[in-house]
Amino acid sequence: MTTAKRIDGKAKAAELAQSITVETAALLAEHGIKPGLAVVIIGEDPASQVYVRNKKRTAESCGFHSVQHTLEADVLQADVLTLIDDLNADKSIHGILVQLPLPGHLDEQRITQAIDPSKDVDGFHFINIGKLTAGLTDDAFVPCTPAGCMLMIQDEMGSDLSGKNAVVIGRSNIVGKPMASLLLQANATVTITHSRTKNLARVVAGADIVVAAVGRPEMVKRDWVKPGAVVIDVGINRVEKTVDGEKKMGLTGDVDYNDVSSVASAITPVPGGVGPMTITMLMANTLRSARLAAGLEG
Ligand code: GUN
Repeated sequence: MTTAKRIDGKAKAAELAQSITVETAALLAEHGIKPGLAVVIIGEDPASQVYVRNKKRTAESCGFHSVQHTLEADVLQADVLTLIDDLNADKSIHGILVQLPLPGHLDEQRITQAIDPSKDVDGFHFINIGKLTAGLTDDAFVPCTPAGCMLMIQDEMGSDLSGKNAVVIGRSNIVGKPMASLLLQANATVTITHSRTKNLARVVAGADIVVAAVGRPEMVKRDWVKPGAVVIDVGINRVEKTVDGEKKMGLTGDVDYNDVSSVASAITPVPGGVGPMTITMLMANTLRSARLAAGLEG
């Protein structure tokens, strides 16, 4: 029985954040520009509050201008749109992120599409989705989670995935669909699966690369996975765990880590895998946006 390599997303993210910090200092010293990131959080969702806090902390440690707008759960849609208009016009802001999910009375599409595509560091605007889907990856803001997954996959397998079968479990706009576009762009043969897929285990068993993004705790088991596959776990599920005989709330992924470790060649843990990479990719997108706004990147 082999044990898969544990892909250390936390270490890789810290390394990337370090080079972003150095580039940010150079941008300020040479051009007087500080990348600015505005994060908008609406309501009290506890998971969103943790994510937003981490994004703010990382932005500050990279040397960015970081602002947070915290709006009440019952805020009017018109007021959210006015805030986005103001941020679109604000020259000190290069990236705008509205944390999802939104309270039910707000129209997610209207709000994400109101963000100027050139400040859409989440990559949710149709312009950026269209560019990514058309293969113009260098010209689009790519959503942060799939971008981070892709870096980890290419670290393990090289940049050209010709001849590799990739199976993405989950078809969300945030992860599944953009992940499939990125894998396709790198020449992988891609299958997107979802809750209506028949014989999911059999489909996954053909994959050299598995990306699990369904939100079902430990769904992917050892007997689903081809020996030697690279397994990327996007799931962040809150579950009750027993640690030293005590019940505690903990995080677990969509993959049964211990089980699948015995068959995969490399696997991301939860926590400490995809999550930290996502935040660092947000910083990379914001730095790039600041450089583009200054005409320093084509
Ligand atoms: N909620 C969960 N993931 C994300 C993300 O990548 N961006 C935003 N804006 N909200 C999220």
